[in-house]
Amino acid sequence: MADKMRDQLSPFIADGPQVIELKLVRDASEVEDESTTFKAEMCHQVYGEKEVIFGYKDLKIKLFYSACRLTTYIGIEYSSKVTPDLCDGVVADDVEKPLLEIIPKGYLKDLGHFKAAIQEDVTFKPFGSLIDRLELSSGQTFEYYSCDTHEPNFLPYHERLQAFLMWFVDGASFIDTSDPRWHFFLVFEKYNPGDGVRYAIAGYGTVYEYYAYPEKIRPRISQVLVLPPFQKMGLGRHLVESIYNHYLGSSNVLDITVEDPSDEFEALMDVINCRKCITLPAFSKEKVKQGFSPEMVEEARKSFLMHKDHVRRSYEILRLLFTNRSDKEEYRQYRIEIKRRLYAPFKMNQKRGGAARRAGISTDETQMTQEQQVELIKQMYKEIEECYDAVIQRLKRS
Ligand SMILES: CC(C)(COP(=O)(O)OP(=O)(O)OC[C@H]1O[C@@H](n2cnc3c(N)ncnc32)[C@H](O)[C@@H]1OP(=O)(O)O)[C@@H](O)C(=O)NCCC(=O)NCCS
Repeated sequence: MADKMRDQLSPFIADGPQVIELKLVRDASEVEDESTTFKAEMCHQVYGEKEVIFGYKDLKIKLFYSACRLTTYIGIEYSSKVTPDLCDGVVADDVEKPLLEIIPKGYLKDLGHFKAAIQEDVTFKPFGSLIDRLELSSGQTFEYYSCDTHEPNFLPYHERLQAFLMWFVDGASFIDTSDPRWHFFLVFEKYNPGDGVRYAIAGYGTVYEYYAYPEKIRPRISQVLVLPPFQKMGLGRHLVESIYNHYLGSSNVLDITVEDPSDEFEALMDVINCRKCITLPAFSKEKVKQGFSPEMVEEARKSFLMHKDHVRRSYEILRLLFTNRSDKEEYRQYRIEIKRRLYAPFKMNQKRGGAARRAGISTDETQMTQEQQVELIKQMYKEIEECYDAVIQRLKRS
């Protein structure tokens, strides 16, 4: 009986990311062209942890955007919907309500109106000031702009843009744009379909300008998204470099930090940072092999506004690059240095534990044994070396 019910219901269970169809439309003819569709990578932040949507057969959630203005079309299509009598009174999930929590008002539900609205992209101009330009060998031109929350008409545009984060960035949250410390960096493809220049959004980044005592700021890169049709073209790398260059021109910036990066973004940052460090005298092969130094931190901060944690990480990657791993002693020295860093927090905990015991305060009984710590550090080291090796491969390729 249960099997029969399961078979009956399985066509009504949709894999969320697979049914979310996104498009950045430049011309009305693309609306019917499947080849311009891209899928969401995740939807748990909208439709729940399991990423399934229940109750519809052949479900399609169409989220089409005009490429420049981001005029939005929402179309929810399906061939049939469960009825309570088919499944013990259980009703279909509400598809639209969670969507409307991330997509601001002003969207269209009529495809004809959406196609007509694409024409309005003709008058769209990027927000803020032009800070950089990138020309690819393919002939495509991209322009980088920076703006803040005071930019006229920008915040409603940003509301439409940020919805994309939910489909591509794990742990994404919308920022509080009433706080003027947010700063925005936007990437547009500049193109001309024949009747005038257009600017299609390709990606963006947000930066929060933290105050740093006594009279400086410490910008923190918060979210970076290159939209899927534009990924792996070098735009993300150029966006990060534009952000750093933008702040390099200001005398009141201490350094730049990055908020909780995804693995892919961390790898991108590692490649960028190592490339910068290797140009500095403090990072010559001889100096790197002698160990981490305050000179490295100072030079990288002064020249590139790099935060000391990024400098240390770049040092570790470059030291691995310069280490002759067939020389047993040299390789051992490298492993010892990394493990010493990994061991430091455990040592601190032990000291605190000792002080607590002396003061008669009971310590956590579940604290790790020495053997468990050694095993954990071994595992951590292995993962670090794999991760650094991937960066080294990318450095060698580029
Ligand atoms: C992480 C992210 C920002 C990277 O942006 P991107 O524009 O795809 O990155 P880039 O193109 O600059 O570089 C990525 C890779 O593409 C490669 N690449 C660059 N130009 C290329 C080209 N013309 N053709 C093919 N590959 C290219 C780069 O070399 C790099 O790979 P490699 O270093 O191994 O060679 C983007 O993938 C993204 O938005 N992901 C989803 C959201 C996310 O994770 N954001 C970060 C956390 S907030």
